Amino acid sequence: MSKNLTVVDHPLVQHKLSFMRDKTTPSAHFRQLLGEIAQLLAYEATRDLPLEMREVETPLQPMQSPYLSGKKLALVSILRAGNGMLDSLLHLIPSARVGFVGLYRDEETLKPVQYYFKVPEDISERDVLAIDPMLATGNSSVAAIDLLKAAGARRITFLCLLAAPEGVARMQEAHPDVRIITASLDECLNEQGYIVPGLGDAGDRMFGTK
Ligand code: URA
Repeated sequence: MSKNLTVVDHPLVQHKLSFMRDKTTPSAHFRQLLGEIAQLLAYEATRDLPLEMREVETPLQPMQSPYLSGKKLALVSILRAGNGMLDSLLHLIPSARVGFVGLYRDEETLKPVQYYFKVPEDISERDVLAIDPMLATGNSSVAAIDLLKAAGARRITFLCLLAAPEGVARMQEAHPDVRIITASLDECLNEQGYIVPGLGDAGDRMFGTK
């Protein structure tokens, strides 16, 4: 289970997550917290990005200083809840390119069906952060990664707020090369496919829908 799975067990992350779990937390605060935790998860996800030394002149003297090298990241939001993590990640990594994957569940086959797909043309040359707050059954997450790989993506990290063991197992079976970074590995899924104890429907809570 632990292969390629990182739980960011940091006091700030856990504190903010507790407010997100609280059913009385209003949407505006929920959105803000999601953005803040997304940045802390991204801090972990980006710690191995390559650097190159370049000359910079401080007010005192020239020096060699590290800058990010090569093509920058691609952030891919899995609609719609992924959008709740996107803006704050773009503040942190303004040079990132952005893609979107839209999937819905066919009521008869229960399989994910693509309704929107747009990613940077050079995605094969970029490290990809696929973002979705909830890794629940893993069905849509795995389908989104299938699409990204078909478009050429090779180095993918999946960033989520909460993960269920079932979703992690499904992702690790289908895409063992994809690293999962999450704020919490929760207990299980219930019969409706909600993560338990979870925080409810992330999209509804961030957008105030039901
Ligand atoms: N999607 C959500 O928004 N919440 C869950 O608990 C599971 C999937």
